[in-house]
Amino acid sequence: MKYFTLDNVSPEQLQRVTVPLQVTVSGPENISRSIELPPFPPEQLGDQQFCEEIGIRYPYIGGSMAKGISSAAMVEELGKAGMLGFFGAAGLPYHTVEAAVDRCAASGVPFGFNLIHSPQEPDLEAALATLYIEKNVHLVEASAFLALTLPLVRYRTHGIHRDVNGSVVTPNRIMAKVSREELAERFFSPPPEKFLQQLFQEGALTAEQVSLAATIPMAQEITAEADSGGHTDNRPAMALFPTIASLAVRMQKKYGYPVTLRVGLAGGIATPASAAAAFALGAAYIMTGSVNQACVESGTSDAVRKMLAATRQADVTMAPAADMFEMGVNVQVLKRGTMFPMRAARLYELYRTYESVEAIPATERDKLEKNVFQATFTDIWRDTREFFLKRDPRQVERAEREPKHRMALLFRWYLGQAAHWAKDGAANRTIDYQIWCGPAMGAFNEWTAGSFLESPDQRRVATVARTILYGAAVITRCNFIRFQNIRLPADFSIEPLEDRQIKEYLA
Ligand SMILES: Cc1cc2nc3c(=O)[nH]c(=O)nc-3n(C[C@H](O)[C@H](O)[C@H](O)COP(=O)(O)O)c2cc1C
Repeated sequence: MKYFTLDNVSPEQLQRVTVPLQVTVSGPENISRSIELPPFPPEQLGDQQFCEEIGIRYPYIGGSMAKGISSAAMVEELGKAGMLGFFGAAGLPYHTVEAAVDRCAASGVPFGFNLIHSPQEPDLEAALATLYIEKNVHLVEASAFLALTLPLVRYRTHGIHRDVNGSVVTPNRIMAKVSREELAERFFSPPPEKFLQQLFQEGALTAEQVSLAATIPMAQEITAEADSGGHTDNRPAMALFPTIASLAVRMQKKYGYPVTLRVGLAGGIATPASAAAAFALGAAYIMTGSVNQACVESGTSDAVRKMLAATRQADVTMAPAADMFEMGVNVQVLKRGTMFPMRAARLYELYRTYESVEAIPATERDKLEKNVFQATFTDIWRDTREFFLKRDPRQVERAEREPKHRMALLFRWYLGQAAHWAKDGAANRTIDYQIWCGPAMGAFNEWTAGSFLESPDQRRVATVARTILYGAAVITRCNFIRFQNIRLPADFSIEPLEDRQIKEYLA
């Protein structure tokens, strides 16, 4: 079979996605025909009803990044650009999150906050859920949940009522991020009866509210998270997404919800091609993370932004996570320019092998104190003890009873500090930076090499988002051509575009 070729079409015409395009194609034996391409603006990618409900123009979301790396400034910039940002509340003290809520609420743009499951700090998880209720934060990204919890159900069902038309209104929306189908099933199910009864007993829900809550899903939207920066199960998007999407259809039928269940995709998205692929899979929206950390608005240091700009596809690896260290949970981090992944892995190995810090052979212990901790274990324990006495004294009591737990807290000190050193750009600790990052970063750097976006100080979160999304619309429209057996010019490619160019093309 021979291909048709495009006649008289300039790359610029292909890029003007809001204008209908009449093209002539020539094929074998001088056959030529004419086809018309409809306009395809970026708004048409994804689920427009979802965008309408959230109050955004484009199906693009900046995912939560812990410790305020997805900062209030980032949330505001995405909001102003007609997209959505989640503030990275994980790992921050309560009063910092509270101040960020006030700032985002005053900004006048749509926004959301992260509610991360904190098995080590259940009180903080409950306090944040209450804060979000009290401060009218109506959109939350729930992540890292292994099962549903009472604070999460309290948040979701708070204020549930029927409107004058008899429809059930649920003021608080949860977008759940998961990489496993069992968890997705829990979020697409109504809130568990035992929690509803508990809230009823407490007086937090009326009997009528309990019966209304039984008719809604815990989360109307689930973000299927494939191989990503930070906590990840390293699932390939191509395999994960269809499974969660078909679960949404099954759960919709099973419960007959009056609202439509939706699935978005996160993990590995940082280029027009990957964004177009996500929408082709059927994603209601896309979510990015790694690429946003590299942007000027992120709450990390310039030193980290520079390292991220030099990251290539294979420069990331898995390393033990500070928050679930003892459980052997890993996070995806940068390995180029830092020894953190190696050092953290060694600490985990020692933790598995020995029952206490004192049981570690003296030469190894000395090396750790000198090179890794740069302080004696006695000094580190003094600081760690003080920290936990204020935050969670039960940890200190347990550590003083169980030497292995004391060792875990000491090692977690290093893992925790390593993220702070990176975020603060500590010059004497570069080699220990813990930088959460996925392969998306390398893909973005490869795509933007040689363009204005190569430079870290040009990477503005909304500009990056717009050029990815706009490029995805161009690719998607070009696919209408490709799938009719028509060849695109071999040198046609989607370049990173500045805001003013995109504006011009969309005019
Ligand atoms: C620096 C960093 C910190 C993150 N912290 C969180 C977090 O606290 N809570 C959360 O739900 N997801 C967190 N994520 C995941 C992102 O929200 C997003 O789902 C993910 O990065 C998307 O995949 P990508 O990195 O391939 O773009 C983090 C990701 C990065 C890169």
